[in-house]
Amino acid sequence: MSLLSVRNLVIDYAKTRALDGADLEVAQGETVGLVGESGSGKSTLGSAVGRLLSRAAQRTDGEVVVAGEPVFDLPPDRLRHLRKRHLGFVFQDPIASLDPTMRVGAQLRLVLGRGGDVGFHLARVRLDDPRVTRAYPHQLSGGMAQRVAIAMAMATSPELLVADEPTAALDSQVREEVSNMVFSLAADAGTSILWLSHDLPAVARRCDRVAVMYGGRVVESGPAREVLGRPAHPYTAALAGASPAAAAHGARLEPVPGRPPVLTGPAPGCAFAPRCPFAVERCEHERPEPVKVRDQHVLCHRAEELAERGVHGEPVVHPEVTA
Ligand SMILES: Nc1ncnc2c1ncn2[C@@H]1O[C@H](COP(=O)(O)OP(=O)(O)OP(=O)(O)O)[C@@H](O)[C@H]1O
Ligand SMILES: [Mg+2]
Repeated sequence: MSLLSVRNLVIDYAKTRALDGADLEVAQGETVGLVGESGSGKSTLGSAVGRLLSRAAQRTDGEVVVAGEPVFDLPPDRLRHLRKRHLGFVFQDPIASLDPTMRVGAQLRLVLGRGGDVGFHLARVRLDDPRVTRAYPHQLSGGMAQRVAIAMAMATSPELLVADEPTAALDSQVREEVSNMVFSLAADAGTSILWLSHDLPAVARRCDRVAVMYGGRVVESGPAREVLGRPAHPYTAALAGASPAAAAHGARLEPVPGRPPVLTGPAPGCAFAPRCPFAVERCEHERPEPVKVRDQHVLCHRAEELAERGVHGEPVVHPEVTA
C-alpha cells in the first residue's frame, strides 16, 4: 500500500485552476522528485499533502490519502495528529518557516516535547554550537536556519517529508550540504521524501522515482533514471532537453518553446498540446488517460506510438535487431 496517494486532485484558487486532476503515489521509504516548470502546481500539490493550502484554495475534486487517512475529510484533531505523527515539511524560505519571536532551542523543544534532547537534534544537522540554541531565527544565516527547520521537521521521524525547494534560496556552496543532510537523515529514519525541485540533475542523482507536472497534472512518473534518461512524454523530453545535464552530455540547451498554460477550468484536452511537436487534433479536445510505457505512467495519447519511434523522432533501435 502507498504511504501517500493523491487521486484526481483538483484545486482552484478563485478562478485559477492550480491542480487539474493530479495523481501521485509515494511508497514507504521511497524518495520521489516532483519537477515541472514554474506554475505547474508543485507547491500546491506538496501543500495539499498536509492540507496546508492557503485560504484562497478550494478542493474541487479528488482526494489525498496519507497512511490510510483521507486528509481532506479528517476532523481537526485527527488532522493535527496525522501531521504530527506522519508528516514533516521543509519550505524554500527557512527564516519565514520559523517563529521570529522564539529562540531556536525553545522552538525545537516545543516540537520534541518534554524530555526531548535539543542538543542531539541540532548536532544531527551539524549545529553543535550552543549559541545556536539561544539564537533567534533572524540571527542565523539562511543555511543555518534551514538546518534548524530540517531538524524540526525530522525530529519526530515522520513517515513522509515534503521538501519544497528547500535549497533554492541558499548560497550555492551550502546547497549540496543541506540536500545531503535531508537525504541522509531521511534514509536513517526510513522517511519517504517528496522533493519539489527545478534541479533535474539533482533529482536524477538522488531520487528513486520522479513525477513530472504540467498544467496541474502529473504527466509522467516512473523510475528517475528512466523518466529523465528516456522520457516517454514529449513534455518530459523537452524539459530534460532544456536541462544543463543533458547539455553536458552533448544535447543542445534549449528552453521549452512557448509558455505554460494558466488554467481557469479543466483543460479540454492535453494541456501541453499547444507546445507539443507531436500534437494531433485529438490532443486538443480529449483529455489523456494514463498509459503504461516501459516502467513509466504517461498521460499522452500518442505515448505508445512515440515509444516505438522515439519521443525525439529518432528511430528506436530494437535490441533484437542489433543482437
Ligand atoms: N495563493 C495563491 N493564490 C492564487 N493563485 C495561486 C496561489 N498559489 C498558487 N497559485 C497559482 O496556482 C498555480 C500553481 O502554482 P504553484 O505555486 O503550485 O506552482 P509551482 O509548480 O510550485 O511553481 P514554482 O516552480 O514557481 O514554485 C499557478 O498558476 C499559481 O499562480
Ligand atoms: Mg512552488
